[in-house]
Amino acid sequence: MFTKILDGKKISNEIKVAIKKKVHKRLTLGKRPPGLAVILIGNNPASEIYIKKKQISCNMVGFVSKCWRFSKNVQENKIINLINILNNNPTIDGILVQLPIPKHINTNNIFKSITPNKDVDGFHPYNIGCLCQKTPRLRPCTPWGIITMLQYYNINIRGLHAVIIGASNIVGRPMNLELLLSGCTTTVIHRFTKNIPYFVKQADLIVIAIGHKNFLKGEWIKPGAIVIDVGINRLKNGEIVGDVEFKSVISHVSYITPVPGGVGPMTVAVLLQNTLKACIEYN
Ligand code: GUN
Repeated sequence: MFTKILDGKKISNEIKVAIKKKVHKRLTLGKRPPGLAVILIGNNPASEIYIKKKQISCNMVGFVSKCWRFSKNVQENKIINLINILNNNPTIDGILVQLPIPKHINTNNIFKSITPNKDVDGFHPYNIGCLCQKTPRLRPCTPWGIITMLQYYNINIRGLHAVIIGASNIVGRPMNLELLLSGCTTTVIHRFTKNIPYFVKQADLIVIAIGHKNFLKGEWIKPGAIVIDVGINRLKNGEIVGDVEFKSVISHVSYITPVPGGVGPMTVAVLLQNTLKACIEYN
């Protein structure tokens, strides 16, 4: 069967070029550049890499990006105080607190303290609520990046049965809302689901985000299904792989995203888009 590997890196670069042009135009009109504030708590090595990628991309498109770093023992109120200051800073359009954060800090309190107009992660209950009620504002980056990628390739997903593997707040749950909005019939499966292959076999579109290398097997896939791999797993030899057993899956699918170079770059591109949108429309 003809198989197509969806190239997130290419689309992400095109999106960044378009954003750079819009920023340039703003500057020629005497307007300020969009500003992104990043907050990093602790020293998670993966978070360091992600943040670096986000900052490099910000520089590329002409955004101002600033990073605040805190030790893993920092108190929640110190983070919330900083967020309050950034909420009121007119040069900052987006505030991003890199996850995961230490367990003694309540993630929901952190996301609720970011003003919805600067919530470029789209995790504030107000923004999630708007997505849920079919009136999206700032949308969670990974799910919206996946939809953007499918749109770029003109892949029509309306009416497909989408099975989402993983029910996290960052990917699985907002992915479910995005796919519903795109006209899919959705099933979300998770760690307590019995007989996962039974559900996967019924899927026209599979989105997997569980952080478990080689989890999704070729024999579970309905021929011609679309497979979106959100997993990022680092092997002992330093290689990065997704959640899909690529070797056995590829011959069964119509489209598949690679890791690296699939969903990851789309997430960063959409974060930039969200920041520009927040700058133009909300701040
Ligand atoms: N960690 C992994 N993915 C994400 C994301 O989309 N946003 C934030 N803030 N942290 C993350």
